[in-house]
Amino acid sequence: MLLYAWMLFVETAPERYDAGMRVMTLGRLDKIKDAVAEAIRPGDNMLDIGCGTGTLAVRCMRKGATVTGIDSSAFMLEQAQKNAAAAGLGDRFQPVKDSATQLKKHFADASFDAVVSTAALGEFPKSYLEYIFQECNRILKPGGRLFIGDELQPENLLSRTLYNVLMGVLWIPQFLIVRRVAYPIKGLPAILESSGFRVDERRGFWPSKLELVFATKR
Ligand SMILES: C[S@@+](CC[C@H](N)C(=O)[O-])C[C@H]1O[C@@H](n2cnc3c(N)ncnc32)[C@H](O)[C@@H]1O
Repeated sequence: MLLYAWMLFVETAPERYDAGMRVMTLGRLDKIKDAVAEAIRPGDNMLDIGCGTGTLAVRCMRKGATVTGIDSSAFMLEQAQKNAAAAGLGDRFQPVKDSATQLKKHFADASFDAVVSTAALGEFPKSYLEYIFQECNRILKPGGRLFIGDELQPENLLSRTLYNVLMGVLWIPQFLIVRRVAYPIKGLPAILESSGFRVDERRGFWPSKLELVFATKR
C-alpha cells in the first residue's frame, strides 16, 4: 500500500514518475517490464492499460510491437509520447486518453495480439476488474495474451492476515498524503479465469507482493 501511496504521489508529476517508481520498487517494476517485453513478439499489436509515461510501451516497441496506450491522465500520455519520440518510435505509439473502463468505446473485437498493464489496476474494485478483463478478452484475438504486473494480495491466510494488519495501519498515512486509496489486487487469478483467460504463469518479484501474471485468452 505504501507503494501505491508513492505511485499516486509521483503520478502527479510525470517527469519525476519514472525515477520515483524505480526508487520505490527497488527496480522491480523495471524487471517486470523487461519480462513483459521479452515475451512480446515482433509485429504484435498491443494495448497498454494505464500506460503512464510509456516506458513499457517503448520496451515493447523496441521488440517490434505497435502499442496503443490508454491512460486517464493527459500529462502521463504527453510524457509517453515524448518518450516514444525520443526513442525514435513515435510512429508506433497511439495514445488514447480515457479510462480503463471505456475499452468498449475505442476498440473493436479481436483487435490486439496482447494486452498489458503494470501498476495500474489496483484502484479498481473487483466488479470493475471483472468488467475490464472481460473487455480485454473481447478485444484480444483468439489465443491473444494478457500480462498483468501488479501488487497482489497474499492468498495464504496467515500471510494475508499479517499483510492486512500492516496495510490497515498504512491506509491512514496514504489517505492523508494523496487523498486516494489503492489496494493490492485480491484474487486476480480467479478473476482472470472467470473472465475467459487461462492463467499460464505467475512470477513473483520479491520481497513485496509484486507479481507478473501471464494469461491467454481461452
Ligand atoms: C502507477 S502508474 C503506472 C504507469 C505504468 N503502467 C507503469 O508501470 O509505469 C498508474 C497509471 O494508471 C493511470 N490510471 C489511473 N486510473 C486510471 C483509469 N481509470 N484508467 C486508465 N488509466 C488510469 C494513471 O494515470 C497512471 O498513469
